[in-house]
Amino acid sequence: MSETVIAVPRTRTCPFSPPPGLAEVRDRAPVTRATFPSGDEAWLITGHAEVRAAMRDPRFSVKVPRALHTKDGVVTAKPGRGSLLWQDAPDHTADRKLLAKEFTVRRMQALRPNIQRIVDEHLDEMERLGPPADLVSSFAVPVPSMVISDLFGVPVEQRPEFQEIAEAVMGVNPDPEVAQAAGMRLGGMLFQMVQERRANPGDDLISALIGTDDPEGVIDDMFLITAAGTLLIAAHDTTACMIGLGSALLLNRQDQFSLLRNDPSLVSTAVEEMLRFLTIGQYGGERLATEDVEIGGVLIRAGEQVVVHALAADFDPALVVDPDTFDITRRPSAHLAFGFGPHQCIGQQLARIELQIVFETLVRRFPELRLAVPVEELSFRDEMVFYGVHKLPVTW
Ligand code: HEM
Repeated sequence: MSETVIAVPRTRTCPFSPPPGLAEVRDRAPVTRATFPSGDEAWLITGHAEVRAAMRDPRFSVKVPRALHTKDGVVTAKPGRGSLLWQDAPDHTADRKLLAKEFTVRRMQALRPNIQRIVDEHLDEMERLGPPADLVSSFAVPVPSMVISDLFGVPVEQRPEFQEIAEAVMGVNPDPEVAQAAGMRLGGMLFQMVQERRANPGDDLISALIGTDDPEGVIDDMFLITAAGTLLIAAHDTTACMIGLGSALLLNRQDQFSLLRNDPSLVSTAVEEMLRFLTIGQYGGERLATEDVEIGGVLIRAGEQVVVHALAADFDPALVVDPDTFDITRRPSAHLAFGFGPHQCIGQQLARIELQIVFETLVRRFPELRLAVPVEELSFRDEMVFYGVHKLPVTW
């Protein structure tokens, strides 16, 4: 076991590569002690096999006492039974089962025509307005927002407000008062939405959950509001980041852009490689050992906190050959961009469908698309839980 305590590498020098130093840490000690921005010392897990082992091990809880990635380390209170993200078994298993029933591959596939329409409409508008355009505000942000809002039946007039609230809730180190106010507004909006669905059920997901056979009475207003809030936020920001950052990456790598444009059948491997190469949950997940656990031959004691660093793991040469090369023809890897184990992303099928439609359509409709500014002038989301690009000026 390595006794050295390292400072977790967080500063990127290339916007499309993990922070320098992370690979060396992983290759030297895939489970090691590290210090984090909160000032705390905890375990940092970076090897692919070790991250997977920790993520699927039920002896790790998501209820961490300290938020290691924030400057003050304070964990904000989670009301009620809580969102899936902050629950452990058995509550997590039961609630996830209820939601997963509505996230079938069939239901997600049925959304394809609607997603295609939303993507087409946004690209039509971009074309109509002419170059240059900011691909983030005109495409990457509104498309996932419209998709998930459609899925839940969020009324059109409430969508801009929802988008604004999601931004406020997701930032790292947000002003606690701003975050609390955003959380309250989101709660109010969802409460109203649930009441409307109860009165007038539709074919949306909230109505489907209300109609679920629920002999134990788990699906009350609080459950619905929490579930919808978690889903809306988890689906919105992540997918928007992947569209913006994935586009930036493709435009910075014109060889890969051309490959995809010339052979659209590559879109599913291209999306898998983008997910791996960008692994946007850039700091890794936080967990707490509830019992002594051995990971990668290292003993982690009950009560100790760990960070499972999926980004470092997705560049492990044990996962793919030549991990630093972005290659859209690569065979899909067992990457950890959607997590692993009991908390693995419930919306991954929807995210994949959305990203495939987005990138196939974008390169087909704008075969001459290119960055309108040098890549050095782009500003990236270095301080956010999910990595991305703030603005993406493009021309064609
Ligand atoms: C490219 C887009 C997306 C990425 C990269 C992503 C990534 C992730 C990751 C890494 C986790 C695991 C978190 C952890 O282990 O603590 C997760 C969980 C989750 N995701 Fe996604 N996600 C995406 C899209 C979506 C979409 C579209 C939805 C819903 C429609 C969604 C809903 C959820 C939910 C509800 C969870 C919590 C699951 C649980 O705790 O059991 N995500 N996502």
